[in-house]
Amino acid sequence: MFKTLSDTPTRVDIWFNGQPLAVPGDRSVAAALLAAGVSRFRSTPVSGAARAPFCMMGACFECLVEIDGVPSRQSCMVPVRAGMHIRSQEGARDLPPEPGADLDTLENAHAR
Ligand code: FES
Repeated sequence: MFKTLSDTPTRVDIWFNGQPLAVPGDRSVAAALLAAGVSRFRSTPVSGAARAPFCMMGACFECLVEIDGVPSRQSCMVPVRAGMHIRSQEGARDLPPEPGADLDTLENAHAR
């Protein structure tokens, strides 16, 4: 039913949760991680249940991961590239500090 773009996909080296992975390079981050056997992309903020890509077309947001330090990226919508540092997204995301906040007095960058 579905075909890859290439019969002989090039492999690229990425990092997932600090571990090196060689994945097919001609697809999205979500498809590449699934091909490499990754099944936990994020966890829910309330129960911590594991989640993984569902729609593969940008509609369900089950595939959110942190890519190169940027949280909440839809991995099914981002082409995989060599050298990417990807992390699973556990629980709720933090908000950035408010503009003008005194960062020296905050317990961390998120005022917690
Ligand atoms: S898998 Fe549904 S938005 Fe990415």
